[in-house]
Amino acid sequence: MSTSRLFSGIQPSGIIHLGNYLGAIKQWLELTKKYDSIFCIVDLHALTVRQKSAELRKNTIELAKIYLALGLDPQKSTIFIQSQVSEHTELAWILNTLAKLPELERMTQFKDKSIAHKENINAGLFTYPVLMAADILLYDTAAVPVGEDQKQHVELARTLARRFNEYFGETFVIPESLIQKQGARIMGLDDPLKKMSKSAVSSFNFIALTDDAKTVEKKIARAVTDSGREVVSGSDKPALTNLLTIHSLLKNQTIAQSEKEFVGQGYADFKKALSLEINKFLQPIQKKISATDDKTVLKILFDGQSRAKKLAEKKMKEVKEKVGLI
Ligand code: TYM
Repeated sequence: MSTSRLFSGIQPSGIIHLGNYLGAIKQWLELTKKYDSIFCIVDLHALTVRQKSAELRKNTIELAKIYLALGLDPQKSTIFIQSQVSEHTELAWILNTLAKLPELERMTQFKDKSIAHKENINAGLFTYPVLMAADILLYDTAAVPVGEDQKQHVELARTLARRFNEYFGETFVIPESLIQKQGARIMGLDDPLKKMSKSAVSSFNFIALTDDAKTVEKKIARAVTDSGREVVSGSDKPALTNLLTIHSLLKNQTIAQSEKEFVGQGYADFKKALSLEINKFLQPIQKKISATDDKTVLKILFDGQSRAKKLAEKKMKEVKEKVGLI
């Protein structure tokens, strides 16, 4: 077994949707067999958008429950909360002194979020990718499984690692992003030209992992389709391609196999079958989420904290020495 390290994370911002699962978490489960895996709940990143403290606390625990319900095994991987290992912010500061303004200005997510949160374009939003680089580099991470929207951020982590190594000597592993061929960019149900996003204006954009069966049916029934009648994918059929991608990933089959299932059937039949498939996936997960108590989750998170802290302290000591901090 390889001991190569894997690191990934999700923001506890309330809504975890099918895009997060199909784009990222689904591949985590497979990869834990191959890598020494660390999964983080990145609460400090969530602060870049205004949060209510009680809700942030609740969402953090809820996200840990989701990780567990989806099958992450705390015996086999480390699960912890970002803010509980202070080395993340410490390293982020040092990396901030290496990141160049134009590199950060180029970040698509910063540009998008600056438009979406005009009233709160804070410095944290701007240096967000530097904190993400710290998350990754602190653990000698080789592999970062993410959706396509995070690729640019992982690129920055690579750039900062190289820059640090060049100036201060070999310190950081250069990480690689792992992006799935299918599902790396699940699109909005209400607009198949934009990615599915928890910050979408309408809740008809996404399926949350906590949506009940009726809500899923309603959202899929309302999902935008393309002109035509046949259930087929194609570059001129972004909506159907997206829905077929979701269907095929949930069934662990190819899009061609999903298309074949619906030959001779219309959009309504396909949507009914898709809702069923989504609910078949979500319902056992929702049961597991509600069956997990906070105490169990907190214990897992504190165990994860102490494991992560040990690794982070060691790396930070090396970084401080290299930089010349006493
Ligand atoms: P976040 O919380 O926005 O998203 C979590 C994961 O879900 C993926 N994702 C998608 N994949 C496919 N289709 C979509 N529509 C879609 N929307 C989101 C994201 O690519 C991501 O993998 N900055 C990160 C969190 C983070 C992190 C890290 C990740 C912080 N530090 C270190 C990896 C390593 C973020 O905001 O993800």
